[in-house]
Amino acid sequence: MKKLENKTVFITGGLSGIGKACALAAAQHGANIAIADRKSGDTDKAMEEIKKENPKAIFIDCDVSVFAQVQAAVEKTVSTFGGLDVALNNAGIGGEPAKVGDMTELQWLNVINVNLNGVFNCMKHELTQMTKQKKGVIVNMASILGRVGFATSAHYVAAKHGVIGLTQTAGLEYAAEGIRVNAICPGFIDTPLLTKAGFISHPEIKQHIVDMHPMKRFGKDSEIANGFIFLACDDSSFMTGTAVEIDGGFLAQ
Ligand SMILES: NC(=O)c1ccc[n+]([C@@H]2O[C@H](COP(=O)([O-])OP(=O)(O)OC[C@H]3O[C@@H](n4cnc5c(N)ncnc54)[C@H](O)[C@@H]3O)[C@@H](O)[C@H]2O)c1
Repeated sequence: MKKLENKTVFITGGLSGIGKACALAAAQHGANIAIADRKSGDTDKAMEEIKKENPKAIFIDCDVSVFAQVQAAVEKTVSTFGGLDVALNNAGIGGEPAKVGDMTELQWLNVINVNLNGVFNCMKHELTQMTKQKKGVIVNMASILGRVGFATSAHYVAAKHGVIGLTQTAGLEYAAEGIRVNAICPGFIDTPLLTKAGFISHPEIKQHIVDMHPMKRFGKDSEIANGFIFLACDDSSFMTGTAVEIDGGFLAQ
């Protein structure tokens, strides 16, 4: 059964990894898709894949850390499809590893600007539209690292803790206005982000991360997409202000 038939779904960072898996799943469930991402060599190929599932899909070149670009992206989505039913604030980067005392201001700001300020920028403009409509669903991509620390990733950990705080607070603020706001906390998922971080190519690091998960494996992007569809559709109609862990048991330890 299609769970998002004719709904409009806005997805940041939807050209790759988890965001693309969520876009494909939402398109399979009948949704119109607006992908907001930075244009790259892979843009056309990813958009073709999504359009195969549902031709009603558009790409918007957008850096989520730039307030005005996010505003324009949300407005473009609404003017194209006539509204905004679901937003997935997923765009994110891993950042360069460093201990807090060794971290440069630039390393810190690069991650905070995308992973935390980017989510605020999106929520601000999405909520403006959803308040007008008196309905909508927001899903933020947090992380298990929004719950616990991780050495050499203070920027990422702080940003993801912030995303959970934003989710809880907006969940409270809009609970009585027909707008639900939840987050997903994935464990380590095999995507280009982990490859870029060097977690896949070094066998010892890879095994160490696998061993941190009681299920002894990385998650799949499709397993996060299944959780996204649940939070995006009416199956989760009594859920707001929460962060759902999809992590192979990581946080149960
Ligand atoms: N892979 C994991 O293990 C994992 C675990 C927990 C949480 N997450 C989170 O999931 C989300 C997606 O990660 P992924 O693993 O699929 O990574 P990915 O690198 O495969 O995809 C990230 C996408 O975000 C886009 N993006 C990056 N910066 C952007 C910006 N400033 N503006 C617009 N788009 C931008 C990229 O172009 C890319 O398409 C991130 O928020 C990440 O922190 C990932």
